[in-house]
Amino acid sequence: MPIRTAIIGYGRNGSSMHAGPIEKNDAFAMTAVCDIAPERRKQAVERFKCPVYEDYKEMLRKEKIELAVVVTRNDQHAAMACDCLRAGVNVLVTKPQAVNADEARSMIAAAKETGRRLLPWLPARWGSDLHRLGELLRDEAVGKVFVVRRVVSSFATRCDWQTEKRYGGGYLLNWGAHIVDPPVVLLAGKVKSVFGRMKQVINPGDVEDLFFGVLVLEDETIVQVEYTISADPLPSWVIQGDRGLIVVNGRNLKLIKQTPARPKDPTRFSTMQAKPAEVLEETVEGALYGDEFAIYREIGAAIRGEKPYPVTPEAALDVSRVLDAIKVSSAENRVVML
Ligand SMILES: NC(=O)c1ccc[n+]([C@@H]2O[C@H](COP(=O)([O-])OP(=O)(O)OC[C@H]3O[C@@H](n4cnc5c(N)ncnc54)[C@H](O)[C@@H]3O)[C@@H](O)[C@H]2O)c1
Repeated sequence: MPIRTAIIGYGRNGSSMHAGPIEKNDAFAMTAVCDIAPERRKQAVERFKCPVYEDYKEMLRKEKIELAVVVTRNDQHAAMACDCLRAGVNVLVTKPQAVNADEARSMIAAAKETGRRLLPWLPARWGSDLHRLGELLRDEAVGKVFVVRRVVSSFATRCDWQTEKRYGGGYLLNWGAHIVDPPVVLLAGKVKSVFGRMKQVINPGDVEDLFFGVLVLEDETIVQVEYTISADPLPSWVIQGDRGLIVVNGRNLKLIKQTPARPKDPTRFSTMQAKPAEVLEETVEGALYGDEFAIYREIGAAIRGEKPYPVTPEAALDVSRVLDAIKVSSAENRVVML
């Protein structure tokens, strides 16, 4: 039997990235859709011929749902997720799962209390760039990695609730999960300390459109994370190792292999020029922010109990803790220890 699924928030993202795989994967059946906007409900009825609701609590009472997908504004996620869990419904929550770590903890507590599944949406974990970089690092392509930079840049402006603090807007919450989590996953590391900065540069509203964080991992690797405003794209990844460098610019990946020269006679000065570098270039294929159809296959398997969902609520809580630390560090001009 297909998994009886409902979307709460049939907006830009709910009606595309989530409705698409639910529609196309036989493991799921769209059982109901909830949105406060009448035009969105109309679109959902036309597409899925399913019951639609203005009030998600009424939907939870009236419909037999196994999985609710929460794709509303950021400030609504935690309360909606907890209500779904307490109604006995498994819940998938888009990113950011919550506006802070305390809200994320309340969701974990509700999942434990009810025995239902809380599935965080961290699609960049399925990103094709992250996957390729993982292969290269496992092969020690650049030796021991000591610095990773992960940057997303644009010169675009937007004008919606994402520019308003009261709705959980701001680029830290909007982009943080895509930017902060992948390098930590790549290095299989744990964040020890955070220094952060946030600024509002070109966007309207009352929130930041730039954030910057320097994370030090427990093994002392330095990770620099940024969403920034730039008139020309900056490299999305820079990975520095003691045997080379990887630079990723969108889909272009450049691997530079180099070995430092060692003195023949350590008691005498010599020029110590490194050997000429070996440079390899390739194109990264596949979805950089994860293929939602592939992710939904994993969600289906997890709900049917066939295999665990790869992203635990505790891993998503770690992301929220780092985002909180960037915020606190920026406000208080200090390093935050985790
Ligand atoms: N790659 C990604 O994972 C990705 C991409 C885009 C957006 N998102 C996330 O998706 C969420 C929604 O973003 P969006 O761009 O689709 O916003 P949106 O404003 O287009 O959609 C939100 C929808 O929620 C509805 N809504 C608001 N209050 C509601 C309520 N009480 N009950 C039911 N519906 C309600 C709105 O009417 C709207 O249709 C955000 O949290 C965003 O961060 C994730």
